[in-house]
Amino acid sequence: MSPTALQWTPTHGEPYRPVAYRPARMPSSESLARSAALRTRMDERRTVRAFSSDPVPEQAVRDAIACAATAPSGAHQQPWTFVLVKDPAVRQRIRAAAEQEERTSYDGRLGDEWLQALRPLGTDAVKAHLTDAPALIVVFQQRYWLGPDGTKRKHYYVDESVGIAAGMLLTALHLSGLAALVHTPSPMRFLSQVLGRPQNEKAFAVIPVGYPSDDCTVPNLVRKSLDQVLVEV
Ligand SMILES: Cc1cc2nc3c(=O)[nH]c(=O)nc-3n(C[C@H](O)[C@H](O)[C@H](O)COP(=O)(O)O)c2cc1C
Repeated sequence: MSPTALQWTPTHGEPYRPVAYRPARMPSSESLARSAALRTRMDERRTVRAFSSDPVPEQAVRDAIACAATAPSGAHQQPWTFVLVKDPAVRQRIRAAAEQEERTSYDGRLGDEWLQALRPLGTDAVKAHLTDAPALIVVFQQRYWLGPDGTKRKHYYVDESVGIAAGMLLTALHLSGLAALVHTPSPMRFLSQVLGRPQNEKAFAVIPVGYPSDDCTVPNLVRKSLDQVLVEV
């Protein structure tokens, strides 16, 4: 049976029904070997902005989305929707709308401080990745639960939950050999319109997925070292 074969239905006020959880404990030697290998592999991930139009194995993208959907979430409300856009005409519409917003942003809306922060990344208002990459994953936050009869229920820690799920999505894509970019055109309202999403959903990011183009370059960035990010007490 596939791990996703059971269908989730919304819960609200049901009693606590625990089940046993006894995963096999990994020997520490194996934990250390795996953590070291994973650290090296994750350090190889880079944001790609120049994509080949070569197709990707679609099931690998679906599997990555399924991995993202295993993320923890506030009150287990799983407040996310992933829209996988393959249709070139829809990608073209997203690009046209995104570039219109980005032109306004780069022409001054961002402000000088933001533009200075972006300068080392070499980005501009041209967003060819939106049509060059063979697939886009548009991640939506469900700001609240919307029942079929219009009932609304509050969702808790939506930003945090969707941020964690997006991180797991990027990790899964990378470990599956695929390149990605987190693109956050601002404002993103046009994505709800183009993709016909319901009123309770708000776009979080557009994630183009594919392979780097043959002439892909990335900014020469330095990541913080472990001792710059870790405080042990
Ligand atoms: C929340 C978020 C928003 C981002 N938005 C954009 C974006 O709109 N356009 C873009 O080119 N890169 C965007 N990025 C990518 C970052 O610029 C990139 O992750 C950073 O420069 C570090 O590079 P690396 O991912 O190769 O380590 C975004 C990343 C995050 C996490």
